[in-house]
Amino acid sequence: MYCCNCCFPSTDLGFICVLELKWLLAYCANSRFTQQELPAWKPILTPGWVITSFLAIAMLFIPIGLVSLFASERVVEIVYRYDQDCVPEIYRGNVTSYIQNPLTNKTCIKNVTVPKKMEAPIFVYYQLDNFYQNHRRYVKSRSDKQLRSGEDDFSTKGCEPEAKSSSGKPIVPCGLIAWSLFNDTYNLLMQDKVLKINKKGIAWKSDTKVKFGSNVYPKNFQSGGLIGGGKLNQSIPLSEQEDLIVWMRTAALPTFRKLYGKISVDLEAHETITVVLENNYNTYSFGGQKKLVLSTTSWIGGKNDFLGIAYLTVGGICLFMALNFILLYVFKPR
Ligand SMILES: *[C@@H]1O[C@H](CO)[C@@H](O)[C@H](O)[C@H]1NC(C)=O
Ligand SMILES: *[C@@H]1O[C@H](CO)[C@@H](O)[C@H](O)[C@H]1NC(C)=O
Repeated sequence: MYCCNCCFPSTDLGFICVLELKWLLAYCANSRFTQQELPAWKPILTPGWVITSFLAIAMLFIPIGLVSLFASERVVEIVYRYDQDCVPEIYRGNVTSYIQNPLTNKTCIKNVTVPKKMEAPIFVYYQLDNFYQNHRRYVKSRSDKQLRSGEDDFSTKGCEPEAKSSSGKPIVPCGLIAWSLFNDTYNLLMQDKVLKINKKGIAWKSDTKVKFGSNVYPKNFQSGGLIGGGKLNQSIPLSEQEDLIVWMRTAALPTFRKLYGKISVDLEAHETITVVLENNYNTYSFGGQKKLVLSTTSWIGGKNDFLGIAYLTVGGICLFMALNFILLYVFKPR
């Protein structure tokens, strides 16, 4: 196809060019392309061909689906919703006065039971529901420049209203995401012995190495009138504040889990774990739920039936279609 490649660069005689161009256009107008005569792939859908392809897809997808479902079933999970249980009886009618009062006792002790043997490593997550970390204004309320380098404390662009303290000093880390840092804490006991939750190495390596500077220290953080969430230790650089780093990798969906820590011992079936938690974080004002999750993993990650079900559905539909075609064309040919 030489279509409409103009000759202007190659000649200095305008009129020849126009002639050539005319010729070219005429050629183009009659080409196989504009006449739609290009070769095309027109498969003939014979019954055998269709049945074979449906069967092939079914044979591929159904085993993948079964293997994924099986892997997901092997993941053992404890999900405990505590945001309601952990508000004392007398405050149930007025939760706001409980959660916003710094003097009320926020400690909450509950027992959970291990349903099946859980093999280490066991991951400890907090799960929030109905929390829109992906809200347009919220998700932009941060300064990556400031988080990265210790010289850029004043780069608080986009962080309003959490950019400067009341005395005009920059807040580090600035912005609404950091300000709303999750601040419930969990301690686990088993038969009165502490079950250690390891909080090192919960953030992504790329975040601790690149996005959060080792020479950036929290300043003027959570010092305003309204406290949005957790406080940060001012003597630890941001690159080592892994809870903050995990929190600041914002979730795309309103229900999300974030890693809190890891347990490196196995838990036996029917064991009782005592959870001692500090119920600090205010999700009550927007009807959010809080859950503590303990989970093992498998090669597909955590518990996730969706993948398996999706493969099985597609495989199943293909098998069904194949059987229909077989009945239609093989047993009752017209
Ligand atoms: C939790 O279990 C322990 C023993 O396993 C028991 O002593 C304690 O009373 C229980 N606590 C609650 C709040 O049920
Ligand atoms: C935890 O966060 C809430 C806001 O969600 C705040 O009111 C409270 O003061 C914070 N508590 C601590 C101990 O950081």
